[in-house]
Amino acid sequence: MQIIKTIKDMRAFNKILRTGNKTMGFVPTMGALHEGHLSLVRRSREENAITVVSIFVNPAQFGPGEDFHRYPRDPVGDLEKLSALDVDAVFMPEGSEMYPEPSRSVSLDVGGIGRMLCGVSRPGHFNGVATVVAKLFNIVMPDRAYFGRKDLQQTVVIKKLVRDLNFDVDIIVCPVIREKDGLAMSSRNSYLNAGERKAATVLFRALKLGEKLILAGEMDNAPDVRREMEKMVRSEPLADPDYIEIVDTRNLQPMQGIKLPAALCIAARIGSTRLIDNIIVDKKRK
Ligand code: PAJ
Repeated sequence: MQIIKTIKDMRAFNKILRTGNKTMGFVPTMGALHEGHLSLVRRSREENAITVVSIFVNPAQFGPGEDFHRYPRDPVGDLEKLSALDVDAVFMPEGSEMYPEPSRSVSLDVGGIGRMLCGVSRPGHFNGVATVVAKLFNIVMPDRAYFGRKDLQQTVVIKKLVRDLNFDVDIIVCPVIREKDGLAMSSRNSYLNAGERKAATVLFRALKLGEKLILAGEMDNAPDVRREMEKMVRSEPLADPDYIEIVDTRNLQPMQGIKLPAALCIAARIGSTRLIDNIIVDKKRK
């Protein structure tokens, strides 16, 4: 496994390894890797001759006062995990390699999609994500890139980025990997103390309640389902909901009357940690 720190070396790796028609899969991450990340890596390994993983905590997607400086970092553990999965290369640049100018002159604006759901409490976040992913695509030049549906809005933003800027990359969206009690795996779960960790399961419990109400035919309009879900979240003293929305899976537009498939999306603070989760409700899905 090659550890690559510079853009120049990443390009050299590409020139040497990508002879013939070997396909390359790419998994962008911010590190502190868990089974959610590793599921994307395994999928890429299955589907491509070469797999590249990036580890870069992208300052451009954190707002002022957010957790950029204390975001969990574990480069040694990450490299062990990736080496065990036989990844071909890990691209882990310094901040100054990705953003050499003190202030960037070009950044992307993803438009309205970046201002809804998580974009309301994290203004500019998805512009920062789109900017770094565009840069990474230009540097790594993969055939396929793997993203988790855990960050549903991010997948919609990235697909739009690829369409709008004509990147020659297939975007593969992979399922949410959860702990045994349903909590979606996240690097930020490490912020939770024992009490908060228990309380955090309320996100998934509320999603499952919403799913049940819809699939049992008990409710067919979004405001009613959202109200029941919100009641459940508020019944947990450590949880403070940010949003609970029922949206169209393709464009994330909120629904009034529920039409399947629908995405149930939730963001909530557990103590001071903001967590997100979602499930897709569909007819045939159990
Ligand atoms: P990060 O939060 O490290 O996540 C990297 C990838 O892992 C994302 O595609 C995310 O959706 C996926 N992932 C995280 N938890 C998951 C889970 N429980 N199940 C399945 N997939 C999961 O997302 C980012 O980094 C950044 O925004 C990035 C795209 C790297 C740009 O900086």
